[in-house]
Amino acid sequence: MYCSVMSAAVSDVDAVPVSVEADISEGLPVFCMVGFVTSQVREAQDRVRTALRNAGAAMPSGRITINLAPGDIRKDGTRFDLPIAAAILECRGSLPAGFLKGSMIIGELRLDGRVGRINGVLPSVIAARDRGCHTCFLPAENVQEGRVVDNIRIVGIRSLQELISLGQGEDLPEEEMADAPPEPESYDVDFADIRGQEAVKRAALIAAAGFHNLLLSGPPGSGKSMTARRIPTILPPLTKEESLEISKIYSIAGLLPSEHPLMTRRPFRSPHHTITPAALCGGGFYPKPGEVTLAHRGVLFLDELPEMNPAALEMLRQPLEDRQITISRVGGTSVYPASFLLAAAMNPCPCGYLGDSTRCSCSVKEIRAYQARISQAILDRIDLVCVVPAVDYRQLSGGEEGGVSSAEMRRQVLASVQIQKERYQGSSIVFNSELSVSGIEKFCPLTDEARRMLEAAFRHLGLSARSYHRVIKVSRTIADLEGREIINEADISEALCCRSGDLPEADVPGRSRRHG
Ligand SMILES: Nc1ncnc2c1ncn2[C@@H]1O[C@H](COP(=O)(O)OP(=O)(O)OP(=O)(O)O)[C@@H](O)[C@H]1O
Ligand SMILES: [Mg+2]
Repeated sequence: MYCSVMSAAVSDVDAVPVSVEADISEGLPVFCMVGFVTSQVREAQDRVRTALRNAGAAMPSGRITINLAPGDIRKDGTRFDLPIAAAILECRGSLPAGFLKGSMIIGELRLDGRVGRINGVLPSVIAARDRGCHTCFLPAENVQEGRVVDNIRIVGIRSLQELISLGQGEDLPEEEMADAPPEPESYDVDFADIRGQEAVKRAALIAAAGFHNLLLSGPPGSGKSMTARRIPTILPPLTKEESLEISKIYSIAGLLPSEHPLMTRRPFRSPHHTITPAALCGGGFYPKPGEVTLAHRGVLFLDELPEMNPAALEMLRQPLEDRQITISRVGGTSVYPASFLLAAAMNPCPCGYLGDSTRCSCSVKEIRAYQARISQAILDRIDLVCVVPAVDYRQLSGGEEGGVSSAEMRRQVLASVQIQKERYQGSSIVFNSELSVSGIEKFCPLTDEARRMLEAAFRHLGLSARSYHRVIKVSRTIADLEGREIINEADISEALCCRSGDLPEADVPGRSRRHG
């Protein structure tokens, strides 16, 4: 007796349809599973056997062969328990033949026959819809997540008994499912909380408007972390496709909040500086998404940058350049999206007070060693470097207004994002930071004075080719914020002020400046 039902396996950040085939033949009672299954999937046989018995549908006698096709895709996790049980039930006649035709079914089984929640439901339901399925049977706990996808019927299953009853034509008690409440729009932090530091806020504004990477360097307590944490408050909203894209990643990582199954806010990830390379970039025997992927389309905030494990830091080179990360492991190679805004913070020296001779006692050697922990290759990939001064007492004590608020900054960001949207219509570019070399030539016209200034800077500051392009991209964003189509001298000069070459250094006579 043979029967096949459709399920899905997770592959990178998508799901691929998988046929779960069951064959019951006469012979010794053996349960055999084939089709590139991991040991975790193999454990299904014990769960299925016990769950079927406890659901009142004893395991058929004879040889049971389960095949998960196609055989060249690795199947992992517990999501195949329910389809395997369903295929066996259909084989032995407990479910009518063809009951699951045109449907997808996924879910984990508990020993008493209950169906448990799984990760990666969202990409699976999308795969089912794209395959033309009319229904998707999911664990009841995953129903909210499945309902995010349009044009497919979602049926929540609490137990194997319920599935059998459904097959016998009984209706499930329709559970009233309130629509998920939208994520709150407002943030409990605001740029208005930051006193003074107008230059730093300006750098954050430029970074958010063009999705440029930003490094803040300054003494302790000057507001670096405060600034970085407020960047999400001024970022443009996600499009529906971007929301789905991020939600798929969080669904696979098991981090999708059940009350908000669709991520509508840009992610903000701030891993601790002791993070391992695998946790930052993804990894494990079977690759899993890391922080760079969880920050996709949002902000990755790396505080205390020089304290990070150098191996982890250097691994950022590829995602910062390619906006995706490739992980190769024994268990396979995965490519995950990783297009994020890097916001980093650091102290300029071990004590943090470089430039304040009354407080800083770090030696030149210590300062150099500290700053050298961030390689030039990483600095080269950071578009904006902002030196954050210590806060002035008068500003802090409330003598002055808080200054520009997140609402006002967001308004400026949205206006410049609109300009970028119109400019890059029909191409895959969304933000200025994504411009390629040919894109720079096409979309970044310069006035003659601006061109002369850039040429002089290239010669005298010894810019690298990458920095040269980054200066133009940042000046494109500055010009967009001002509503100018042609980049002028002022835009170039502001962009030049925000380069890595401007990091404070130990004052040593005859010492050459770092270029970048
Ligand atoms: N510009 C500012 N306006 C108002 N409060 C500020 C400002 N700068 C710092 N503070 C206060 O100082 C606290 C510490 O700021 P923050 O954590 O951002 O400093 P930091 O620059 O990240 O320091 P560290 O180098 O030690 O990490 C804030 O929680 C806030 O109370
Ligand atoms: Mg800090």
